[in-house]
Amino acid sequence: MLRRLHPVQPDSFAFTPANLEWAKGQISKYPEGRQASAIIPLLWRAQEQEGWLTRPAIEHVADMLGMAYIRALEVATFYFMFQLQPVGSVAHVQICGTTSCMICGAEELIAVCKELIAPAPHTLSKDGKFSWEEVECMGACANAPMAQIGKDYYEDLTAEKLRDLIARFSKGEVPVPGPQNGRYAAEPLSGLTSLKEFAAGRKPHNASAQLAVDIGDTVKRIDGTEVPILTPWLGKAKAAKPAAKAQVAEPVAAEAAPAAKPAAKAQAAPKAAAKTADAKVAPDATGTKPRATRAKKTDKD
Ligand code: FES
Repeated sequence: MLRRLHPVQPDSFAFTPANLEWAKGQISKYPEGRQASAIIPLLWRAQEQEGWLTRPAIEHVADMLGMAYIRALEVATFYFMFQLQPVGSVAHVQICGTTSCMICGAEELIAVCKELIAPAPHTLSKDGKFSWEEVECMGACANAPMAQIGKDYYEDLTAEKLRDLIARFSKGEVPVPGPQNGRYAAEPLSGLTSLKEFAAGRKPHNASAQLAVDIGDTVKRIDGTEVPILTPWLGKAKAAKPAAKAQVAEPVAAEAAPAAKPAAKAQAAPKAAAKTADAKVAPDATGTKPRATRAKKTDKD
């Protein structure tokens, strides 16, 4: 499918302060020079903030990551998780139209979308609450036909069940995602035939649906309040550097000239040679070598 930017674009984009902090945390996960690796989470958060991915947002993210605009545009236009046009204020409905779903009734689901939302995909419903599109296989073929509504999968659908889901979303409800025909996951409709021991003590919903229920982000736009971003390395990096320097400096200054020679040799040697030197030094408890070894270990620590 050809994916183009929407002809009508806003003038500018900026992350909210909370989202900017989150974005910086994401960027910090990657080593220097590899910041472009953060592009998908940043584009995703920009989309969550605005509802859809605008050209100013794509360019803003590219600037943050030091990327050429065309590189960011390539990513945004490739993945259909990125919506390049305005979507419904309540939910964007993605109907899988690939083989398994098509055989099991995807065309009936698309007909419901055309009737209840809009005749053409990527078009807002009259009330602005919904939009829809047909997408390729979303990997839930054992639960065909299915749709992604918001961020979660609604599976084992029929036209009537989809009608009901849209009506409930329209009223402000968030129906539990997952199979809509009573199945727990992708087991036979008649029940488990193997691995029955895993049924005891399980949660009310399968792992994916349970997570959606617990976090509550199915059609809610993510704003950072759902799951905190964990970047414990940010504080540690600042604290660790001065400490490491202090440990290295002490033995060199105290031992002056006698310790300098072995230390210089150890630094110049290749890694493999250094390991051998360590092994040889260990049983020898005399002379300057043990001191150099201690200094080396301290340096590593
Ligand atoms: S064919 Fe629809 S999820 Fe795979």
